[in-house]
Amino acid sequence: MAATRSTTAVPELALPSGNARPVPVIGLGTAVMFQPPETTKDAVLAAIELGYRHFDTASLYGTEKPLGEGVAEAVRRGLIESREEVFVTSKLWCTQCHPDLVVPSLRQTLENLQMDYLDLYLIHMPVCQKPGPPVFPARREDARPFDFKGVWQAMEECQRLGLARAIGVSNFRTKHLDKMMPFATITPAVNQVEVNPVCQQLKLRGYCAEKGIHVQAFSPLGGQSWAAERNAVLESEVLAEIAKARGKTVAQVSLRWVFEQGVSFVVKTYKKERLKENLEIFDWELTDEDRVKISRIPQKKLSGFSFMFKPEGEFTSVDVSEINPIEE
Ligand SMILES: NC(=O)c1ccc[n+]([C@@H]2O[C@H](COP(=O)([O-])OP(=O)(O)OC[C@H]3O[C@@H](n4cnc5c(N)ncnc54)[C@H](OP(=O)(O)O)[C@@H]3O)[C@@H](O)[C@H]2O)c1
Repeated sequence: MAATRSTTAVPELALPSGNARPVPVIGLGTAVMFQPPETTKDAVLAAIELGYRHFDTASLYGTEKPLGEGVAEAVRRGLIESREEVFVTSKLWCTQCHPDLVVPSLRQTLENLQMDYLDLYLIHMPVCQKPGPPVFPARREDARPFDFKGVWQAMEECQRLGLARAIGVSNFRTKHLDKMMPFATITPAVNQVEVNPVCQQLKLRGYCAEKGIHVQAFSPLGGQSWAAERNAVLESEVLAEIAKARGKTVAQVSLRWVFEQGVSFVVKTYKKERLKENLEIFDWELTDEDRVKISRIPQKKLSGFSFMFKPEGEFTSVDVSEINPIEE
């Protein structure tokens, strides 16, 4: 295939800690279930061709290997010159949240990706489970106390070793950050949490701004089939009305709103036309009136994780029911 180097301009944001390259505002999410690995590899290649330079995976998703293969193939085809041109994030799963397992887990992630460093390594959730393969739904007896100090110190070691250029957290509420920050000699560069017009996370975002932590959005369109009310964003009447007036799609209005909040985001689609559509949000703006309307949308968290953690009570060291509510 002839190499076509994309010229699409995606804004980038400097991360407040670590030595990663600036993060491109839009990233491709690769949380998929029951899909053959080639679909991820093909989507990564299509995305790179269109101008994506930021990819999000996790040890949990099983997409590290095909993501790495997609990037390597893009280099072979001349779509990018080297792996250095892409920003790659992966995450430490709950069963790996033990101080002695953090560096080995990252080494395994890098082996899966066939890369020698990550741009960003995140603690996936403030939840610790017995070491071993992930079990769903999580078993109460597998819960372990979360060692905020030990796990974060091991994350810092990952950055010192050069295995991750920046480190951060995900699904952390203010109370989890409060527990961890006193031990941090490296401030988490990122807190990746759900952010979209239906889950704006104003309190958490204010807290992170104060502490110098960049907020990155997952589920900027409200998530996939496993989200509690997945259509709350894409079927929002408020967003539909704005989209109609601006000549944009609801997805574009939602992504544009997230971008205007100073939040980078990772969005999942493997469909070429949607990959392109989601990129086309950087050359127009919402109006003040649009922003006011969006600010009045009733708020709720859509990412319930209920298929992973049955809401039956104290089944994890940090109760997952405490991750879920939005902080008002
Ligand atoms: N840290 C965490 O705990 C966490 C949790 C959730 C997600 N994530 C990360 O964030 C990424 C994105 O979040 P997400 O996957 O939950 O959901 P999302 O990106 O908000 O939404 C994905 C859904 O929206 C659809 N979609 C994408 N573009 C569209 C468009 N232009 N028009 C209409 N529909 C569109 C997709 O359908 P098609 O695929 O059919 O196009 C898919 O069903 C994940 O893939 C993962 O990398 C992280």
